[in-house]
Amino acid sequence: MIRLYTGDITKMEVDAIVNAANSSLLGGGGVDGAIHRAAGPELLQACRKLHGCETGDAKITEGYKLPAKYVIHTVGPVWRGGNYGEEMLLKSCYAKSLVLAEQYGCRSIAFPAISTGVYGYPKEQAAGAAIEAIKEYLRRREGNCPEEIFLVCFDKATEAIYQKLL
Ligand code: APR
Repeated sequence: MIRLYTGDITKMEVDAIVNAANSSLLGGGGVDGAIHRAAGPELLQACRKLHGCETGDAKITEGYKLPAKYVIHTVGPVWRGGNYGEEMLLKSCYAKSLVLAEQYGCRSIAFPAISTGVYGYPKEQAAGAAIEAIKEYLRRREGNCPEEIFLVCFDKATEAIYQKLL
């Protein structure tokens, strides 16, 4: 079940929140910065042991001081015009995060609008790719997938785009 949530992902009491990280996994601004601030320094210590993450891939850590049990770190594509496999990489972020959540028995997972901030992915196209990727995953996996999948909006523009598409 895909649901919209407007607000700060670091406050959500779900099994896993997804972090829009960079390939170093050593923190940054935007939602990455907010998650590291809320989780505390243990998160960075755990991320150091992961030795980075490829664009389109996802890795999981505990949530530490966050209400969420886990943080799934995924690296979205930087938008370079749309002809460099960005859509496929963005969909891979959602799919790989969902597979990890399933492997760790998560019943609920919350995604920020990956790549639509610093990485410049147009919001409408990113929202469409996110919903397509989640629906493709749900069709493939039936049975043991997370029951609640939240798409988190941090601004009205993103909220309006998702509402139109859902
Ligand atoms: N809760 C929910 N969503 C948030 C929050 C928050 N606390 N803070 C920001 N967002 C939203 C932004 O408004 C945007 O819609 O997350 C979305 C993703 O934006 P970014 O955080 O800029 O992520 P991204 O575009 O994927 O760029 C990743 O930015 O912070 C660095 O280290 C990160 O290099 C990486 C890059």
